[in-house]
Amino acid sequence: MFILDCKDRRPLHVKIYNQIKNQILSGKLIPNTKLPSIRNLSVELSVSRNTVEYAYEQLYTEGFIYSRPRSGYYVSLLDQEYISRPCRKTATLIEPAFGDGKTFSFDFHPACLSPESFPGKIWSKLLTNCLQENPEQFTLYCDPQGEFDLRYEIQRYLERFRGVSCDPEQIVVCCGLQDSMSILAQILLGNHSAFAFEDPGHWIPRSVFQNYSFLLNPIPVNSDGISLDYLKKTNSTVIHVTPSHQFPLGNVMPVENRLRLINWAENVGGVIIEDDYDSELRYHGKPIPALQGLHPEGDIIYVGTFSKVLSPALRASYMVLPYRLLSIYNKLFRNYAATVSLLEQRALYKFMRQGYWERHLRKMRTMYKKKHDALIQSIDRHFGDQVKILGQGAGLHVVLELANGFLDEKDLISRAWEKNVRMLPLSDTYQCKNYYPTRVMLGFGRMNPDELEKGIELLSQAWNL
Ligand SMILES: Cc1ncc(COP(=O)(O)O)c(C=O)c1O
Repeated sequence: MFILDCKDRRPLHVKIYNQIKNQILSGKLIPNTKLPSIRNLSVELSVSRNTVEYAYEQLYTEGFIYSRPRSGYYVSLLDQEYISRPCRKTATLIEPAFGDGKTFSFDFHPACLSPESFPGKIWSKLLTNCLQENPEQFTLYCDPQGEFDLRYEIQRYLERFRGVSCDPEQIVVCCGLQDSMSILAQILLGNHSAFAFEDPGHWIPRSVFQNYSFLLNPIPVNSDGISLDYLKKTNSTVIHVTPSHQFPLGNVMPVENRLRLINWAENVGGVIIEDDYDSELRYHGKPIPALQGLHPEGDIIYVGTFSKVLSPALRASYMVLPYRLLSIYNKLFRNYAATVSLLEQRALYKFMRQGYWERHLRKMRTMYKKKHDALIQSIDRHFGDQVKILGQGAGLHVVLELANGFLDEKDLISRAWEKNVRMLPLSDTYQCKNYYPTRVMLGFGRMNPDELEKGIELLSQAWNL
């Protein structure tokens, strides 16, 4: 985009010439980029065509641009030595997350899905249907809370498969965990000031609530979920939990503790945020119903996502607000715009409505179960009793605990890297850094059973087990 500085008193064509020349020299306009046509640029800048023509002629004469017959002007390829690299004016350079930027042959990332799992053909058919059937709907803003049809389908699914009891009116369509957490932090800010969360746990809820100035209270996780005795000693009145599959350790909160947690919330006027992020993927035994279903009238917010079974790239998730909080949501957010595009929402609605979602769920559960079982067998084969597996039987990852005396997490991961195997540090999920240094996360979503076997074999070599 070109902007003419009105304080600059030089002639207009010189100002245009200078701007384009500077952008070419600074590398902002890269070789072979097409310049706007003389007519378009003159309209854009509200100057005469002659003015733009003068500027282009000058650039052409000096070799900054070249012309293609019946096409227009393009940026010339200049000697790289004389062109400065575009410099980013970022305040601080943030280090890339572990392993980002490097490609690995074996990827144990805990949140990556199987490469061939996305139903691309069906999705593209549904997208096309949405576009053809009612193109007019894309000329309007859509419901900020999410399309009603989609919320209706989500409600039916939650009631049937997760034991969540709610109306479609209570559902808010969000674009992922950080979106839902930001909305919640703003809703809760008026009446609450301290936020409790599982430690270890997902880093997004605590970051978001901290950004809204909540005091943070990390609560240690035990085999029954969080330590309720610890929670009661804090001043928190809001808690984020993953009761059906604790992230990242995989524990299930038994019903007795769920009821005690609900009781705690009632006593302190508190709010429970139940994050049911991967409950679709349970491979053995019956699915564990949501905590929300135990007390639907209570202040329990249920949060779910399409990231684990369908796609983390679509950025589609949802939450169920109790009616009391829904009225605050309506006051605060009625003038906001939707965060998930109408096209995606309509496609998702059709995906659920036409039975593809249920079929896809079954298919994914079968596929990930195979991968899960293959991983467990490979671990048994290569590591035997030198390791303990935590959190197996659900989700897309397990935690491996190595017997004491082995390398610590940093060494374990860097040795894996040397073998071209990617793993993410479990310590990132801890707020208090008193983590077990000999535990690592192993995601099994990305690789097929043969690759999982090879990956585990490479790890056993890397770690000399
Ligand atoms: C605990 C937890 N909650 C929620 C999510 C899903 O987040 P999103 O909906 O932003 O993809 C994840 C994904 O890994 C998770 O681990």
